[in-house]
Amino acid sequence: MARKKHTDGTGGNNGGEGGEGGDGGDGPREIGATERNTERAWQTALRPRNFDEYIGQRDLIENLKVAVGAAKQGKWTLDHFLFAGPPGLGKTTLAHVIATEMGVNLHVSSGPAIDHKGKLAALLTNLGEGDALFIDEIHRLHPVIEENLYPAMEDFRFDLFIGDGPHAKAVTMQLPRFTLLGATTRMGLLSAPLLDRFGFHWQLRYYDLPDMKAIVKRSARLIDIEIDDDGATEIARRSRGTPRIANRLLRRVRDFAKMESDGSIDGSIAGSSLDRLAVDHAGLDSLDRGYLSSICERFDGGPVGIESIAASLSEERGTLEEVVEPFLLQVGFISRTPRGRIATAAGFQHMGLVAPSKAPTGGAGNQGRLF
Ligand code: ADE
Repeated sequence: MARKKHTDGTGGNNGGEGGEGGDGGDGPREIGATERNTERAWQTALRPRNFDEYIGQRDLIENLKVAVGAAKQGKWTLDHFLFAGPPGLGKTTLAHVIATEMGVNLHVSSGPAIDHKGKLAALLTNLGEGDALFIDEIHRLHPVIEENLYPAMEDFRFDLFIGDGPHAKAVTMQLPRFTLLGATTRMGLLSAPLLDRFGFHWQLRYYDLPDMKAIVKRSARLIDIEIDDDGATEIARRSRGTPRIANRLLRRVRDFAKMESDGSIDGSIAGSSLDRLAVDHAGLDSLDRGYLSSICERFDGGPVGIESIAASLSEERGTLEEVVEPFLLQVGFISRTPRGRIATAAGFQHMGLVAPSKAPTGGAGNQGRLF
């Protein structure tokens, strides 16, 4: 199987990591065109393209190597896999890596983009034998579409009705064998029947400091930016254990280094640039701090419901749940209780506030583990 073409079946948003990443090898990337382009193109150019280039998530990568190796040796189609975790940890990247390692085409779509049965039919009938189909935000599939996916996943079959009323005819289409790669930021929202149809699910973790440093150094090397160990540490420490954020901050720090220094990045230019970009020492940005300050100051440390926090910030509840809270929970600045969210003593301390005696200690341990 020498073919490989990664296509975006939605023609649109696929979660920010879609697209093709250039030629083989881990050498410098053609970033000129990318630079004139978008953040998405920048991220794509820096994405690892195979298992060897992938840094971190070691247990997962080892498991995937075994599954891919066995499928290639046995000449069978890889089972359906599901990846869960906060945005930016590499779920889309993994889909591209798996397709590359299998030597198959990857078709990319997302739950919200498949908004009627015809779109699902078009996606499935365009698949070639052995291809992989990536569905991002799979928890947002409409339940009717999801039900139509079950026979496709299980028996590689798709049931269609042609025509209307008494003349409608049921037609069963046989599909090629394919691999469904699903990604979700909200594992808890997936239905049990859909979960059951995946051969394997995996929760991606935030990356630890050594892995984040290695990712920052690799990205800098690929785009020919000089960075020393302190510079890489500073960016890594403030990137919330998330490669996508690290690559975004690297680009911004590079701008400061170019305009205000000799273009190379050290700890001091990285630190001052990130301060000016309002990314604090723990990697919290203004939304994170607004969220924390809302609980600590407006709601007296909590417990407070997510809807009240969202209203106080004029922010979507989903954004808070999927983007802001997972990291604040991970570093132990907040805690979730049956009565609502509460700020921990560590959270108060981070905001420069005195914690009330009711506040639980929080997770200095967690924070230590990450950073
Ligand atoms: N760039 C973004 N994520 C990465 C990863 N996990 N390994 C290497 N480079 C990356």
